Amino acid sequence: MASRRIPVASPAAIAAAAIVSMAVVAAAFNAPSISFDEGYSPLFGEKNIIQSAGGRTVKIHLNKFSGSGFISSEIYYHGFFSASIKLPSDYTAGVVVAFYMSNGDIFEKNHDELDFEFLGNVKGKEWRIQTNVYGNGSTNRGREERYQLPFDPTAEAHRYSILWTNATIIFYIDDTPIREVVKNDAMGGDYPSKPMSLYATIWDGSAWATAGGKYKVDYKYAPFATEFSDLVLHGCRLNPIQQLPASEQCRDVDESTAAADYSYLSPENREALLRFRHKYMTYAFCYDELRYPIPLPECEVVHSEKARYSNSGDIKLQQKQIARRSRAARRRRVRSRVEADRQFVS
Ligand SMILES: *[C@@H]1O[C@H](CO)[C@@H](O)[C@H](O)[C@H]1NC(C)=O
Ligand SMILES: *[C@@H]1O[C@H](CO)[C@@H](O)[C@H](O)[C@H]1NC(C)=O
Repeated sequence: MASRRIPVASPAAIAAAAIVSMAVVAAAFNAPSISFDEGYSPLFGEKNIIQSAGGRTVKIHLNKFSGSGFISSEIYYHGFFSASIKLPSDYTAGVVVAFYMSNGDIFEKNHDELDFEFLGNVKGKEWRIQTNVYGNGSTNRGREERYQLPFDPTAEAHRYSILWTNATIIFYIDDTPIREVVKNDAMGGDYPSKPMSLYATIWDGSAWATAGGKYKVDYKYAPFATEFSDLVLHGCRLNPIQQLPASEQCRDVDESTAAADYSYLSPENREALLRFRHKYMTYAFCYDELRYPIPLPECEVVHSEKARYSNSGDIKLQQKQIARRSRAARRRRVRSRVEADRQFVS
């Protein structure tokens, strides 16, 4: 409902934006990609995971029998993690695609998590994307942000990246930084600080994903396929047996990450970040005063962003649904993992 009030870019503008961002994708980031087998393993719904020859591209499917997903074969402490993702087109209400880092399977009570989540669409409407950050089990302090996209994410692959260091977290779409979380003493343990795995999943989020569950997955349009390519796992692979603390084991990789182009936001990058947020962000926990009467400690008011919410009304309509949705998502993810475990056992 809320999305109807937000001005939608004209098809020509969308096409122009797509061309511009495609042109920079090839140049973006000096980060070598790997094949699926070099970095990942199936997590669940193995029959619905199909690799191209050579494993440079992998498609994960949702059909009426199962979703599917994969997980990094190693756990990482800090780094730059990236994939080009092409989302399923046509009617995808209720279909959830997620590309995220988590250690919820190791730390059930105090896990860390960094998310890109794609929340389905109804035909003719644009996909919505959400980012989120949890640290040390801060699940009752969700830090959701939602955005529209300046391109059609089903028309071709776009790169989605997460940079995580001991000082900052940056989410990128193609080469545009869209969100930065600078480590802040007041955030304390809410800043992710333990090694995490990478996950990519597709699953049925009918109960909550699209318009708060109003539109369900319609299996007439199945299978829903999402294509992942340009897989980048540049991070410190932590050896859990080693006695050294992670910060010492990872010093060399941390230094090479800090020196890479994606770790530095130039003044132009910062402007691009603000421009993106001003134009495309539809929800941000920092401005949700009903949910957080006292903003969380890292929140800084950017007046152009704040004004956008007051005008869009998005915040009032969504704030109640968000908490319910993220709880449901977590339950669903845990269930996926349980199903996955079962599959491995059987
Ligand atoms: C993480 O949470 C636990 C309780 O779940 C707490 O004891 C610990 O101090 C927290 N760590 C940090 C760094 O805040
Ligand atoms: C953070 O990482 C950098 C290397 O990238 C290192 O020089 C610095 O000491 C680290 N800081 C902390 C608090 O661990």
